[in-house]
Parts: sequence; C-alpha cells; structure tokens
Amino acid sequence: MGIQLAGFVLLKILIVASLVEYSIQAKTQTEALSRLHESKFRENSGTDTNSFEAIQDIDATKFHPQDGLKEGDRIYALPGQPKVEFSQYGGYVTVDKSAGRAFYYYFAEAQHSKEKLPLLLWLNGGPGCSSLAYGAMQELGPFRVYSDGKGLYKNRYSWNYAANVLFLESPAGVGYSYSNTTSDYDNNGDRKTAEDNYVFLVNWLERFPEYKDTDFYISGESYAGHYVPQLAHTILYHNQKAKKTIINLKGILIGNAVINDETDSRGMYDYWETHAIISPEVAKDIRTYCDFNATTLSPKCNAVTGKANEDAYVIDIYSLYAPDCFHESTTARPKKPSLINFDPCSDYYVYAFLNRPEVQEALHANVTKLTHDWEPCSDIITKWLDSPTTIIPLLREFMASGLRVWVFSGDTDGRVPVTSTLYSINAMKLPIKTEWHPWYNSGEVGGYTQVYEGDLTFATVRGAGHQVPTYQPLRALALVMHFLGGTPLPNTQTRT
Ligand SMILES: *[C@@H]1O[C@H](CO)[C@@H](O)[C@H](O)[C@H]1NC(C)=O
Ligand SMILES: *[C@@H]1O[C@H](CO)[C@@H](O)[C@H](O)[C@H]1NC(C)=O
Ligand SMILES: *[C@@H]1O[C@H](CO)[C@@H](O)[C@H](O)[C@H]1NC(C)=O
Repeated sequence: MGIQLAGFVLLKILIVASLVEYSIQAKTQTEALSRLHESKFRENSGTDTNSFEAIQDIDATKFHPQDGLKEGDRIYALPGQPKVEFSQYGGYVTVDKSAGRAFYYYFAEAQHSKEKLPLLLWLNGGPGCSSLAYGAMQELGPFRVYSDGKGLYKNRYSWNYAANVLFLESPAGVGYSYSNTTSDYDNNGDRKTAEDNYVFLVNWLERFPEYKDTDFYISGESYAGHYVPQLAHTILYHNQKAKKTIINLKGILIGNAVINDETDSRGMYDYWETHAIISPEVAKDIRTYCDFNATTLSPKCNAVTGKANEDAYVIDIYSLYAPDCFHESTTARPKKPSLINFDPCSDYYVYAFLNRPEVQEALHANVTKLTHDWEPCSDIITKWLDSPTTIIPLLREFMASGLRVWVFSGDTDGRVPVTSTLYSINAMKLPIKTEWHPWYNSGEVGGYTQVYEGDLTFATVRGAGHQVPTYQPLRALALVMHFLGGTPLPNTQTRT
C-alpha cells in the first residue's frame, strides 16, 4: 500500500482495509487530511505551524514566454467523450526549470459566453489530492466517468455553465504533476505550494493572455482552505509589490475548509456527538482532556479521540448518510449513471480512466512517462513541512482588501463539518449583516446562510457531504452562480 510514510501516522479507517484486496492504491481526501492532522499534533512533529507569509522574492527566471503553447494544449476530444460545444485544454506549465518541476492543468472553457464569464480556479486539498480526481471528474467538471472506466457522460450541473474553469494538480507529486528532482516530493508544504501555484498562474495567463483582464476567482475545498487563501494572499502581495494588477483576483470561495485547527477539531467532535456517532460520555471526555490549542495532545486526549475515531471511521465520515461502495472496481459494462444519486465507487472509475494511456495522450499528461501511476491522492509525497494553525488572518486581509469571501459547508460532512466552520467564523468576531435565513433553489431550501459585515458570506448546502458538488450538484451550481455574480443567496422561494 505504501501508506506508512515517514512523518505521518495513518488513521485506521475502513476504506484502507478494503482497498488492500484490490489493485487500486488510492488514498482518499480525508485520509490525507487526517494524516497531516495527526502528525501536526504529535510531539516533535517538525511541522512548522507559524502563520503564513508569502514568498517575497520570486526568481524572475521562473516566468517564461508561453507563445504558441496554448494550441498544443488543445484537447480535441477525450476518449469516450460525448460531443460538446466548449473548448478544453490540458498540459504542463513548468514552475521550476532548474528542478524540472511542472504542474498539470485541465481547463474547461465555459459552455457558452466564455468572453463574458469569469475565470475560476478550483483546488482540491489533501494535502496531496488531485483536482482532476475529485473536482474535475467527481464534482464540478463537465464530465463524469462511466462505471466501466472508459466512457464519459455529461454533467449538466458543471460549473463551466457559470465560469471558465481551471483545474490544477498541485503540488509536485500530485496526479500528473511531477518533478525531475524527486527530493521535491519530500519538501512540500503550504509555502512552497503557494509559490508554485502562483508561478503556475502567472505563466498560465501568459499562455492564455485573453484571460489576463478577466475577473479571477479561486475556489476549493477541504485542505484547499489553506491553499486558496495562501495563493490569494500571494497574489495580493505581488500585485501590491509590483504596483499593478498582475492577476485580477476578485474573490475566494472555500467549502468544508480547514481554517483554524482549534475550532476545526472541537467542531468535529461536537458534530460527531450531535449526530449520534459518538457517545455523550466520550464527547464529554474529549472536552475535558483535549486542548486543541496545544501543540501536542495529552495521552488522555489521544486515548479518548482514538475511541471516538473507532466509532466514526466505520461510516463514510465525509458524507454521513452516503451508501458504501461494495464493488471496488470498474464494471464490465457501464451502469446507468445518475448525477443525483452519486455512485460511491466512482473513485475506482476515475482511477481506471485517468490511468489509461490513450486518455493520458489526449490530455497531454504524463509526457515524461513517470514511474508511478496516477493516484487520486499522492502516494509519493512523504512529508509536509509547514501548515499554519490558522488562516483567519488571511481571511481578514481579504475582507479589508475588498475581495469577495464566501465560505460554504455541506452539512452532512463529518470531517470538516459545519460546526467547525461556524466556530471558526465565530472566532473572527464579525458583526452580522444579514441574519441567518434559508436560501432557496428550485423551490427547495438549498441550505442556510448568514452574511457578516465586511462581506463574508457563510452558506450551508443542505444534504451535501464533504465534496459538495458531488452530492448536491444543482445546489452547488446555484451557490457558485450567486458567488460569481455577487448576488446574495435568495431568501424567497421562487419556482423555476
Ligand atoms: C523532466 O525530464 C524529462 C526527461 O529528461 C524532460 O523531457 C522534461 O522536460 C523535464 N521536465 C521539466 C519540467 O523540465
Ligand atoms: C485558543 O487560542 C486562541 C488564540 O490564542 C484563543 O482565542 C481561544 O480562546 C483558545 N481556545 C481555547 C478553547 O482555549
Ligand atoms: C505514466 O506512464 C507510465 C508508462 O506508460 C505509466 O507506467 C505510469 O503509471 C504513468 N504515470 C502517471 C502518473 O500517469
């Protein structure tokens, strides 16, 4: 399995046990997050948890002319793809020439009116998870993979109905993104990721110069609660330093996001208690013995949280009421797909699809013939050097700079649950601007929302797990349309 990597402790979770019997090496998003979390709180973890600072001097030689590269990235059609009207691109952008480090991107232009619609970057978390695995192929991308791992069908709730959507696999070692200096895989962390993501973006905009003046937004989920604000901060810093708009950033959107370790942890156990996953006694012990502000957790705390984890990780903690996957491989013939009832085995279909040589060729991926396979969450990233305990100061900075800040939460996620997000926002002590109210979509309650002064919008998505667009694609699309349009979520029931 190659999962016991230096610097991490693996949580005992069901999916890992079941994966052993099959060929897939895949790790899932929350597994990666749990490993980081465990290691951060361990004694002598070596993880730097100081507050985030942008890399101030980025080597100018990292920015390259990109003339003529765009056309080479055009994807004419993916194997098994239905006919579409929009353009797709995929390829590599070198972020460090001397190390031989390059990031893979997949770009789905808007279904229509691409010149009028904004540019939206999507990042998955982990750390170590792929935005192709989740974002593009299981959440908000234009296609989903059939259960035979060969064909694609349309996602009519794709976010490219609202924006030109860019998916990035980062940092090096994630998905198709790689480095020829393999020691790079042992030296990843938040700071390096933010710098490389920034270098990627500046170069990408050189390759696609028609998007330079387009309104730009960054979105993501889970550990991208770190990546998104850190990249946004880096953009603001370098715009200011250069005294010009290098990147036309307008706002950020983060979902079920890792924001603030103390409230994230406390909120998770409180959610488990109030959702009948752990006993009131265990929950009380956690409150008594665990100080999540501490740099290391006490043995008593480790014992009680261990007990809680045993009860929690027998279900899909990212989506409490989701069915299990009982057939952990592709099927010989494609099952009838459903966008509304998400197939819990989808990880396996995507794994099969993205490892097919003809798919990689069509995507212009894996051009250097990497020695490892494509994985939804990286097996080769072995260490994570830095991860601040909080990103709240960055959110404050964005609000002060007039960026649009939206924080959403699928309310059936138990890993970075709505309680965690609300506790984190409470820690910011923001006055309320628009009081809590249901928001509506297609005649139903899409979730609840509250807007804070300084313009931070919080919104739940009702019935959605950790990967919100996976479980509630229609509501997620409505949410992102309101976010991009800068319009409040509707507080009245309008039938469409
Ligand atoms: C990595 O090495 C391969 C093989 O030498 C080369 O083709 C490729 O361009 C290198 N990648 C980068 C980003 O320099
Ligand atoms: C954790 O630390 C923060 C920052 O110092 C503080 O505001 C908060 O009250 C602390 N939380 C607890 C539960 O001690
Ligand atoms: C890249 O291609 C090689 C050779 O076909 C294959 O063995 C490997 O699994 C691929 N890796 C990735 C990351 O796609």
